[in-house]
Formats: sequence, C-alpha cells, structure tokens
Amino acid sequence: MTGPEPILEVSGLLKHYPLTRGILFKKQVGAVKAVDGVDFTLGRGETLGIVGESGCGKSTLARLLVNLEAPTAGSIRYRGEDITRLSGRALKAVRRNIQMVFQDPYTSLNPRMTVGDIIGEPYEIHPEAAPKGDRRRRVRELLDVVGLNPEYINRYPHQFSGGQRQRIGIARGLALRPEIIVADEPVSALDVSVQAQVINLLATLQAEFGLSYVFIAHDLSIVRHISDRVGVMYLGRIVETGRDAEIYDHPTHPYTQALLSAVPVPDPRAREHRERIILSGDVPSPTDIPSGCRFRTRCWKARERCTLEVPPLAVPEEFRLTRGPAAHDSACHFAEEKRVVPPEGPAASGDEPHTEPA
Ligand SMILES: Nc1ncnc2c1ncn2[C@@H]1O[C@H](COP(=O)(O)OP(=O)(O)O)[C@@H](O)[C@H]1O
Ligand code: SF4
Ligand SMILES: [Mg+2]
Repeated sequence: MTGPEPILEVSGLLKHYPLTRGILFKKQVGAVKAVDGVDFTLGRGETLGIVGESGCGKSTLARLLVNLEAPTAGSIRYRGEDITRLSGRALKAVRRNIQMVFQDPYTSLNPRMTVGDIIGEPYEIHPEAAPKGDRRRRVRELLDVVGLNPEYINRYPHQFSGGQRQRIGIARGLALRPEIIVADEPVSALDVSVQAQVINLLATLQAEFGLSYVFIAHDLSIVRHISDRVGVMYLGRIVETGRDAEIYDHPTHPYTQALLSAVPVPDPRAREHRERIILSGDVPSPTDIPSGCRFRTRCWKARERCTLEVPPLAVPEEFRLTRGPAAHDSACHFAEEKRVVPPEGPAASGDEPHTEPA
C-alpha cells in the first residue's frame, strides 16, 4: 500500500473472553470471540472509519488500541514497536499518545467533577505533560479549541447539552497532545443536527494538530465525510476495507452492500431507485462463529465453498488485474461489484437478493 507513513499497524488481533461454568470450580466451556483476527494499518494524519452492527466487537477493538485491555493474541505496532507487551514507564508513554473519546457523553463524564477538573484529569496521571501552575491555563485553552467558552471552567457536566458534553470529552482527549485518537461512536448518542457539528470539529482538530483517527460508527453514512479509508466489521473481523470511494461506490462484499442499502439517501430521485437489501436471520453469537465465511448464515449468495473455506481479506482474484476501484480487500469467495446507491437512473442489476423499495 502506498500512502502516508504508518503510525499504527494492527496484525492478527484477537480478544477472546473465556466463558466459564461452575461456581466453585470454574471450568472454561467456550469463548466470546469479540475481536477475532483484525488487521489494518493507520497512516499518519489519516482517518480510518470502522463500521459494523452493534455487538461486532468495535468497542473491544477500541479498548485494545488504547491499551485499556490486553489482546489474547496479535500485535499493535505504534511507530514500529509492539505496544501490547509493554509495561511500566514505556506503557505510560504510549498511552499518552493514543487517547480515546467515548461514545456516551452523558455517562462518561463524572457528574461530581467540574469541567476544568475533568479536562485536566489526564495531567494527574501524566504530571510531566504540564507543570501544575500551567494546567488551568491549558484547560481554558482546550475549552476554546473545542468551541466552548473558557469561562465555563467551573461548571458541571449537567449544565451542558449533549453536543457540548462531547466537546468536553474531546478536550479531555486532547489534553495530553496525543498523536492518535480512537473515537468510539463519538456522535451516536447525539441528535442528528448536532452530529455534523461534532464531526466537523474533529475534522478541524485533525488538520490543526496533525492527528490520526480511528473513528468508529455503526452507520456507514456517519463515517463517510471524515474517513480516508473504511473497514467494515462483522463478527469480530474486518470483511472489507478500502478507500472511502471504493467502499461506498464500488463495494464487493455482500455485507457492505447490505449495510449501504440501509444508508439514508438525501436525493429523492436516487432514493427512488435505491434497492433495499434485507438480510435474513440474526447475527450469530460471537461464542459460536460459523465455519468458513462468518457471514454465510445471512448471505444470499452463500454456496458450499463458503461453509468449507475461510475467505481471506485480500483483493479478490477477479479484480486483481483491473486496478479499478473494485480492486480492494474483500473477504468473499464470490466478490462482485455492486453499486447499491446509483448516482442517477435505475439500479444496475446483479445477483438479486430479496429486495423491496426503500
Ligand atoms: N468484558 C467482556 N466479557 C465478555 N464478553 C464481552 C466483554 N466485552 C464485550 N463482550 C462481548 O463481545 C462482543 C462485542 O462487544 P463490543 O466490542 O462491545 O461490540 P460493539 O462495540 O461493536 O457493539 C459482544 O458479544 C459483547 O457481549
Ligand atoms: S464468501 Fe460466500 S457467504 Fe461469504 S460473503 Fe462471500 S458469497 Fe457470502
Ligand atoms: Mg460499542
């Protein structure tokens, strides 16, 4: 891959939570495979959007990336060094550079702390980041940077709206001047009208501070405007990844196509011709992942090979020589380009799933 210098390289990442039975003698009877083999590279200054349904392992992946939890296996290289095996001072230094913005600004801010103390809290853990006498000034500066009045420094979280609270969460994430921010569904709890403002703020901050983002969402429409590249996650694994136009306009994995068919389309003419792909069945449990292709129990194209062979996340052979926008990584044995939302005119016909008008 040519592109910006990699700042984060994730390889074979696994997080399996043991499932135990018995009270006195706990016996492991299985595992919740929350993250089950994730690979990606994040370039410096780049935004990687991670998208998938609830329960597919997004938050677990986020906690692994910021080192809140240790993986069961795999590596996370930050500037070339595997950070999953670090401890003590080295771990602390890395944590400073990779910060998280949490999903729910209503529950992630301590209601008994003032905004000033919340934003300045990281300095208590990393006192070397700012001398004590300078912290209030820094906090005021951070309030200003995220578009809040620095005079609000002594107010409490309940005195702010949802969007303002998320700005406070972002200010806290910036306090240590990190290089990477992992934002776990940062706008999912906000009103639609406020979502765009917070996303625009994140984009402005990225340009200003040269930040690299992993931006997690459950909806493809949210990440489109901020992502350079997108990874689509299903049951603990990335099933398709590419540059944003490749994923949105030239998806080749059936799961991505189904997700795209549910994205809101503002243009009424395009909306009329959009085809809606309804997936059958429920998402399987991460304790019992299907053999072969993990999406096969819900895929309208599944054949015998899908049960027997795990499709690798790679450029499918049929597109390898084309070098066109369909030539991106897709974990499907029968990958096919399918434009789900046509720019104009009727939808192109392809392998027809069960469809109904949107
Ligand atoms: N600490 C844990 N122990 C056991 N299972 C967990 C734990 N954390 C998450 N899980 C399970 O892992 C799966 C993925 O969860 P999560 O990462 O929160 O997904 P998402 O953020 O995409 O909704 C879910 O089935 C969830 O119940
Ligand atoms: S490998 Fe088979 S089951 Fe999996 S997405 Fe492709 S066609 Fe569907
Ligand atoms: Mg989550």
